Amino acid sequence: MKIVIGADHGGYHLKEVIVGFLRDSGYEVIDIGAHTEEPSDYPDFARLVAERISTGEASRGILICGSGVGTSVAANKFRGIRASVCHDTYSAHQGVEDDAMNVLCLGARIVGEELAKEIVSAYLKAEFKGLERYRRRLAKIEEVEERWMKRD
Ligand code: RB5
Repeated sequence: MKIVIGADHGGYHLKEVIVGFLRDSGYEVIDIGAHTEEPSDYPDFARLVAERISTGEASRGILICGSGVGTSVAANKFRGIRASVCHDTYSAHQGVEDDAMNVLCLGARIVGEELAKEIVSAYLKAEFKGLERYRRRLAKIEEVEERWMKRD
C-alpha cells in the first residue's frame, strides 16, 4: 500500500517520526512536505495529498497539523476525499471500515508520538467493509459532490 503524507510546520516533527515508522513497517511513502519547520499553510499540503489520492498514485493519505482540524477541513474540499481527525484508535479503524475514510488527520499538539503510531497502524490495517448501508451513505456524499463540486 502506498501512503502519501504531508504536514505544515505544526505537524512537521510528528510527520518525520511517522514517515520513519511507516518505512520501517514496510509501507511505500510519498512525503510531500513540509520539509522544514518554517511557517507554511496547511491547505497547500492538503491539496498535494488529495491530488496524489485522486490520481491513484497513493491509496491512503495522512495529514498532520497542530490540531488536525485545518488539514481535515481543507482536505474534505477535494472530490473523493474523505478525511477526518482521529485521536483514538477506534475512530481510526472504524472510519475506514464504515465510512471509507481515505485521509487520516492528526494534531501534533494533541497526540504523542507513540499514540500517533498506534492510530496510524489502526487506520492502515483497516479495510472498508462495503456493507449495503455504508455504500448507500457514501452514494449520498457522492451526490453532494456531483451537485456542488465543479469538475476540472
Ligand atoms: C498552525 O499554527 C496551526 O494553525 C495549524 O497547524 C493547524 O493547527 C490548523 O488547524
